[in-house]
Amino acid sequence: MSTKRIAIYGGTFDPPTLGHLDVIRRGARIFDKLVVVVLNNEAKNPVFNVQSRVNMLRKITDDLNNVEVAAFDGLLAQFAVKCGANYSIRGVRNGFDVEYERPMFDLNAQIAEEEYNHKLDTLFIPTSLANFNTSSSFVRELLAGKAFKVASKYVDKRILNDVVELINSKK
Ligand code: PNS
Repeated sequence: MSTKRIAIYGGTFDPPTLGHLDVIRRGARIFDKLVVVVLNNEAKNPVFNVQSRVNMLRKITDDLNNVEVAAFDGLLAQFAVKCGANYSIRGVRNGFDVEYERPMFDLNAQIAEEEYNHKLDTLFIPTSLANFNTSSSFVRELLAGKAFKVASKYVDKRILNDVVELINSKK
């Protein structure tokens, strides 16, 4: 095991929300290094391309010295092995999120251990009340419907214009 405590925070980030940023900030306080990684989720068909999501994540984590952003085309556990990360963090808003995350935690630990002889644990970070209602899908719908005032409560100011322009360029 590395002496540096390295964690990864994988997600779809389509687009990144203030809820994600809250988890990133808190994760960055716990670990020596946090790698935020844009991964593929088979069940989702992302609206924003991978590079745009990486760019937006870099903008909103600009002030966090121990945070890096990457993209990876493979399994979360494989990326953890590649980074030497023994921890994965996930934000959970409610019981549904916990139910969804529970088997992922177990599978990721098994992949790391059995395929790569690597220890990978998952820490759930409860989202703060201010971000309780945040979801990337709500943000996409709000922006598509031009509800900019409400959308701006859930997206970091530094990327609001990017998100709006990218959504408009899809039409
Ligand atoms: O932001 P999301 O959509 O909740 O993130 C889900 C994500 C991307 C973390 C998850 O789908 C994932 O880990 N995808 C990579 C493939 C993988 O490792 N799946 C889990 C083991 S089968």
